[in-house]
Amino acid sequence: KIFQPFSTMYEFDSGALNPQGKLISRRLSDMSSMYQDSEAVQALLNDNPLIYEVYNVEVPENEEHIQHCTTILYPGKVGSEFFMTKGHYHEIINRAEIYFCLKGKGLLIMQTKEGEFSSLEMEPGTIAYVPPYWAHRTVNTGDETFVFFAAYPGDAGHDYGLIETEGFVKAVMEQAEKYALVANPSYRK
Ligand code: PA5
Ligand code: NI
Repeated sequence: KIFQPFSTMYEFDSGALNPQGKLISRRLSDMSSMYQDSEAVQALLNDNPLIYEVYNVEVPENEEHIQHCTTILYPGKVGSEFFMTKGHYHEIINRAEIYFCLKGKGLLIMQTKEGEFSSLEMEPGTIAYVPPYWAHRTVNTGDETFVFFAAYPGDAGHDYGLIETEGFVKAVMEQAEKYALVANPSYRK
């Protein structure tokens, strides 16, 4: 039987989807080695703050379909580094993605395996294009919840391994009540 059309409701206040679909929650303990300041990580690990949630609409993971979800990235910092997502390449690396910012403000940082780096500011209304081959991570640079909608090919998949081991080229830190992109000393070390 052919796949049936359906719709999902976006909840403007919370950023959640209804029906909820598959919910992913990530706390500091799920990504503690990704932050620069290990003392700040240790100090926060007892509280183990919730950093982000992803509401994922369930569709088959193949090239016929389009995965779509919202990410709710909470405001906060680990030391002076803003809360962020883990970041990933797509498992099928030449799969692109679209992010549409709905709430709050943030930064989308991207890099290629060759070490090229790029960043885009996001605010409600920003539609950002992550081209094929670019790893991507979002960062909440504001003091309210940052929410965006994402859509990408159904077979793309998520590959966290390389980012877990080599990190991003730059870290997003608070500086003089703004953000600064600071060279990550542990990138490819
Ligand atoms: O598909 C995407 O790029 C997003 O939906 C992310 O998966 C989401 O923002 C969470 O980030 P990550 O998958 O890097 O933990
Ligand atoms: Ni992605």
